Amino acid sequence: MSQDNQEILTVIYKNLYRTGCVSLVGTALILSVAFSPQKTLAQSAYPLQWEENLPGVWQAVVNQAGPHNFVDLAAKKPRAKAIKALGQTSFPLEREDIYAEIRDGQTYLRLPLQKGEQIYGLGLNFKSIQQTGQVKRLHMDHYGNSDNGRTHAPVPFYVSSRGYGVFINSTQYIDIYVGSAVRKDNPNAPTPRDRNTDPNWSANPFSDAIEILIPAEQAELIVFEGNTPLKAVQRFNLFFGGGVIPPKWGLGFWHRTPTLYGDQDVMQEIAEFEKNNFPLDVIGLEPGWHSKSYPGTFEWDSERFPEPSAFIRKAENKQVKINLWCNPYLSPESTMYNALNPLSASHTVWGGIVPDLNLEAVRTIYGEHLMEHEVGIGVSGFKIDEVDGYDHWLWPDVATFPSGVAASQMRQTYGLQFMNLVTNLYRQRNTRTYGLVRANNAGGVALPYVLYNDQYAHQDFITGLINSSFCGVLWVPEVRSSKNAEEWLRRMQTSCFSPMAMINAWSSGTQPWSFPEVYEACQEVAFLRMQLLPYLYSTFAQYYFEGIPPFRAMVLEDDYRQPPATLAGELDDTSNPYQEAIRKENTSQYMMGDNLMVAPLFAGEKEREVILPSGRWYDFYTGELVGNGEVINVAPPINQIPLFVKNGGIIPMMDPIRQTSEWTEDTALEIRVYGTAPGTFTLYDDDGASFDFEQGEYTTKLLDAENGTGKLIDLESNGPWTYGEINWVFMSKN
Ligand code: GAL
Repeated sequence: MSQDNQEILTVIYKNLYRTGCVSLVGTALILSVAFSPQKTLAQSAYPLQWEENLPGVWQAVVNQAGPHNFVDLAAKKPRAKAIKALGQTSFPLEREDIYAEIRDGQTYLRLPLQKGEQIYGLGLNFKSIQQTGQVKRLHMDHYGNSDNGRTHAPVPFYVSSRGYGVFINSTQYIDIYVGSAVRKDNPNAPTPRDRNTDPNWSANPFSDAIEILIPAEQAELIVFEGNTPLKAVQRFNLFFGGGVIPPKWGLGFWHRTPTLYGDQDVMQEIAEFEKNNFPLDVIGLEPGWHSKSYPGTFEWDSERFPEPSAFIRKAENKQVKINLWCNPYLSPESTMYNALNPLSASHTVWGGIVPDLNLEAVRTIYGEHLMEHEVGIGVSGFKIDEVDGYDHWLWPDVATFPSGVAASQMRQTYGLQFMNLVTNLYRQRNTRTYGLVRANNAGGVALPYVLYNDQYAHQDFITGLINSSFCGVLWVPEVRSSKNAEEWLRRMQTSCFSPMAMINAWSSGTQPWSFPEVYEACQEVAFLRMQLLPYLYSTFAQYYFEGIPPFRAMVLEDDYRQPPATLAGELDDTSNPYQEAIRKENTSQYMMGDNLMVAPLFAGEKEREVILPSGRWYDFYTGELVGNGEVINVAPPINQIPLFVKNGGIIPMMDPIRQTSEWTEDTALEIRVYGTAPGTFTLYDDDGASFDFEQGEYTTKLLDAENGTGKLIDLESNGPWTYGEINWVFMSKN
């Protein structure tokens, strides 16, 4: 069939589809098959029926969503009221620009992309923020140093700078070409240029499409309208139940002790934190608490921990929670083994079985065991390791699971499923947990876990933190060790401005005072985090109620404009004549909550550029005006991580307590107000530990500042309120 005939057929098909003549479409398809063996666009296109089940959330299936999809696995239901509160919207794309087809046993999807449109998200990336021009296979894995889709949270969701989001509700490995490929039938196709003579020749000529291939004859597409990128993210987060509010202790300081530490070593470590006056709320135990590890038993080692309950009580007496490292693969020596062995996968991991978490019986047996040995005796939570896998030791895609779910789909979701199992145990006890995980995915927003990995590039850690805001996950730039004191301090500073302030000394044995020359500065930033907890806790409440990520990319701020990508790639005369576009983007600056902007410095840097969003911005420490919508250069003293507050920004702070157990009734508040514009901030409080807030047992008050005076206005008063005396501090003169 000629190209012209194909195009005519496509037009006929599109018109039939638009007018709703779906049955005629079938005829057109058969006709086209009769004309030619070659496939045409119209031939197998699947008509998408969009349903707006929640305001601003449209769902359409190709065939059906498919088994073991993210929506079915989600821990929580959509927060319909909160989604509605985001306002009236209309479908953000031209419906006929979205194309679906089942071909060769796979689902092909095509979505439009406009010139200059930026795409963010598509999982936890560590090098780039903008994804336009990239090619990925979204595949759960330990991050391998390239933003190719293999990562700890390969979430199939993207956000557009035009203010909408697209989610593919499928747990398959998904291939995605983000404006990187140009079709012949692209009406906006770029004109070929002569590389010999044209300086505007580009290795990435404009493509008007995002093309997606799903290795299954089914998928569901969900489009989230936002008006702004942040609102699209909010809708996505709320669709999966909204973010988490960690227990208050979870936001204090964490320290993970070395492998094979016993109870006395741990108590000694706790005592040293006290002696050195360093914040400490949680101690994490690494391999060594289990009687066997890799695979583990989930039973305590009787030599290192002869009396686990007594040990946990002792730590509790010091106001310290205990978190346990684990991976879910079970040792033949675990008392659960015999019951779970027939209910596990065909393959083992390090000789341990892989229980099939789809089976109710598995969840019951595993859950009861964890309740008896860990959760029930007061363990505060887990670090769920190695659920991301690595092809050479995890179960392979040829493995089988008794539930019949494909091994590849289990790979994408095992972390989610284990987090869900554990979180439900804590729910049964009406106690919040907060822990770590190495594999998350869509829907993980409602689960109280923070991602981490074994990479250690500090800059990448911060880019990861920024990217976590596009995919409904939390990320910790943990501190392990450092080459020198400066690096140690810089890492401590960023960890304190993240969802979890933590040293992971599992192999290094480091402590906050490992570099004495910067110890005071480390102490200072750790206590600053503690002071900021009223602000941070309220910021997490926003995550829960409104789906706003607590740590987020600058491009999610309305008053920030991403510096434009440099579209032309420069020719490379040494290795790659097709060098891709060089992008200048902001991979090291982010927001913590609505008012505070963090611009970390890395080892070796004495100064840095900071891109200020429009509006007046102020230095957090001094309250001085630093600029308005411009690029500034800052060179603060080494003990300060550069922090900026927007005009009218309110930052509620408390005294520098060492442990969150001191955050009790009548906590004095210092409410800092920056700039000259009027501002408000909703201060949130609850019991800090239970799920009662989900039943409305919390208190919110509006902090309202204008012209040098501040007021506290009651909003909702159905739960605890831990604050007493209030001192308003107006930080800025102009
Ligand atoms: C790694 C993990 C580390 C540490 C270690 C213990 O997989 O990423 O943080 O827990 O295991 O063996």
